[in-house]
Parts: sequence; C-alpha cells; structure tokens
Amino acid sequence: MTNTVPIITLDGPGGAGKGTICLLLAEKLGWHMLDSGSLYRLTALQALRKNVESEAQLAEIAANLDIEYLAEGDRLKILLQGEDVTDAIRTEQVGSKASEIAAIAGVRRALLDRQRAFAVPPGLLADGRDMGTVVFPHARLKIFLTASPEERAKRRYKQLKEKGIDANLPDLVAELKARDERDSERSAAPLKAADDALLLDTTEMSIDEVVNQVLQMASQRFGSNVN
Ligand code: DC
Repeated sequence: MTNTVPIITLDGPGGAGKGTICLLLAEKLGWHMLDSGSLYRLTALQALRKNVESEAQLAEIAANLDIEYLAEGDRLKILLQGEDVTDAIRTEQVGSKASEIAAIAGVRRALLDRQRAFAVPPGLLADGRDMGTVVFPHARLKIFLTASPEERAKRRYKQLKEKGIDANLPDLVAELKARDERDSERSAAPLKAADDALLLDTTEMSIDEVVNQVLQMASQRFGSNVN
C-alpha cells in the first residue's frame, strides 16, 4: 500500500514551518497528514508524567500510546487516553524531552509502524526529521525545509504567544540551537536531508510562497494526482 500512495515528506529543524505548511497543503490537496513530532511529544509527556527514565520503559510507552487525532476546523485536536493534550504537548519542556527520547533507537522503532500506517489514499504529507530518510524512503517528493535559527525562534515565539503560552525569545533561540544539535548529532535517524530531497530555505519566504512552491513541485512530480 505505502508504495502506491503518493507521499510528500517535509523534514527539517524545529520552527522551519513544516507543521503550518503541512496542514495547509493537506487541506489544499485533500490528503492525510502525519505530524510525527507529536508522537515523540506524546511519548515525552507520558514519560514526564510517569517519571520514567529507562530506555526500555520509554520504548514501552511509545509502543502503547493510546492516541486519537481529531480534525477540528483548521486545527488538529490530539487526545491521549481520551484527554485533550493538544496544548500540553507544545510546551518547551515537552519539546526538549521529546528531542531527548527521540535519540533512543527503541523508541524510534516502536513508532515506526504507527507512522507508516498513515500512508493511505489519496496521499500523505509527512512532517518530521526522518520522514524522507527512514520512515518513507520511497516517497516520490522529499523536501527539506530550513530557516535561520533566529527566524525559527521568532516564529515559535509568535506561535506560543498566540496560544497564551509564556515564552522568552533569547531562551527560544538557545533551546532551538541545542535541539538542532541533539537532533542532528544522534546516531539513530539523525536530522538530515535525504540525498534526493529538495532544499527550501524559508527564512525570507511567506507561508503562502512556501505553500505555492511546494504545490508546484508536487504537480511536477505527481501530475494529475494533485488537484
Ligand atoms: O517537530 P517537533 O518539534 O514537534 O518534534 C519534537 C521532537 O521530536 C524533535 O526535537 C525531534 C523529535 N522528532 C524526531 O526525532 N523525529 C521526527 N520524525 C519528528 C520529531
């Protein structure tokens, strides 16, 4: 199934705009969307709540996550064991823990099949760090989105403020850089562009410009499969 479903992977560092772009593209194309970072964040939230540290237990949490994704207008509501944790998983504390546990090979393995199960017709937009390299290596369109750390921190700051979450810009820049380093230097599925990925630096681009550029790439790659 996964080999025949059109897949666009969007990988890149935190705050590069993957989430927003993926949501808009999924809506425009009528395709499904995988926010793979949410799986690492949900595992991290459970780990923090249960005070779990051992790698085996963390992998166990990842393997047994009871999650539901509900589309609500233009946002995706995320339920963990029936509880709405949409905002709870977006804090910097959870993001930082997610990056830490994402370095554990057992955790990544535990989440692999769950991620691949998202590849169903009419198509999938997969947002993450290793979508094009590990999870969907056969995807026909792979994009690596980047932006400068300062620009990414500004975007995240705005996002957090809009959600009413307290944030501090210099701290966000430092946290993003630390997270980039950890995500890029780990040995299990590090953050890197697939050899066949197209690079898109969005530092100077508006959201609409990025969406239109990806849509152009998609229609070149998939032709009539893309509306
Ligand atoms: O995209 P995000 O900020 O929600 O991701 C949270 C953390 O999860 C990120 O620091 C690294 C990890 N992650 C990963 O290792 N692989 C993915 N495919 C997605 C996220």
